[in-house]
Amino acid sequence: MQKAVEYIARSAGKLMLEAQKDGTNVHKKEGVGNYVTDCDRATQAFLQKELANVLPQAVFVGEEEGGDVYRPDGYCWIVDPIDGTANFIRSMGYSAVSIGLVRDGKPELGVVHNPFSGEMYSAMRGEGATLNGYPIRVSDRRLKEAIVTFGATSYRKDVTDRMFRTLRSLFDNCEDLRQLGAASLDICRVAAGKLDAFLELRLSPWDYAAGMCVLLEAGGRITTAEGESVRFDTETSVLAANAACYEEALAVCLGER
Ligand code: IPD
Ligand code: CA
Ligand code: CA
Repeated sequence: MQKAVEYIARSAGKLMLEAQKDGTNVHKKEGVGNYVTDCDRATQAFLQKELANVLPQAVFVGEEEGGDVYRPDGYCWIVDPIDGTANFIRSMGYSAVSIGLVRDGKPELGVVHNPFSGEMYSAMRGEGATLNGYPIRVSDRRLKEAIVTFGATSYRKDVTDRMFRTLRSLFDNCEDLRQLGAASLDICRVAAGKLDAFLELRLSPWDYAAGMCVLLEAGGRITTAEGESVRFDTETSVLAANAACYEEALAVCLGER
């Protein structure tokens, strides 16, 4: 099944590459910096159809219209057809197809593919995580040597003050910060040890479902910014980190450092 999902992700990536070359219509969604393109919609429709062939009994939750409602029992695909749409519109080369599979509320499979760089992150529960077929592990950097990536959730201003207060404190306790613009890829880069931690105060399940499986299989930790279990039925904050700096990063999020 994992190989079939990787193949589907690669095909979806080709739709993104074509749309980047030929152009695609851009539409605004609610809030600042929140977009959808015709390519997001077409890619989701493609994924819904193809993934139904892989696992007909699974429900399909996607960011764009046309999917099902999340179910906590059985199999559920949780899909972002294009994560990093603002980057995609600007040809930044940092956007991904993100395909998560959850079984009875637990991450079962994750595939995150950036067609612009060729990165294919993939994991299946209990079988480890890979990048382009090679096993990956989180880094062992402590917070003072960590590069922490984040999303500022520009279209949800209710979390802005808390985010920048937390970032100030993280900045004082880590090596440096990065904002890259695609949560799924950020989490996978933590899984691969390229980055050491990731924080965003409001994400939707399709932003992290796939990356979460990859990170856990690579030895990382992921919870809310309050240290609670991440769920798939609601928006949530997400703190994802290597095991060495997770507790220190959580202490910063809780205002204890
Ligand atoms: C967004 C990206 C971004 C994050 C936003 C997400 P989208 O997803 O992951 O990095 O900061 O919160 O919504 O809208 O490009 O699919
Ligand atoms: Ca997203
Ligand atoms: Ca999206």
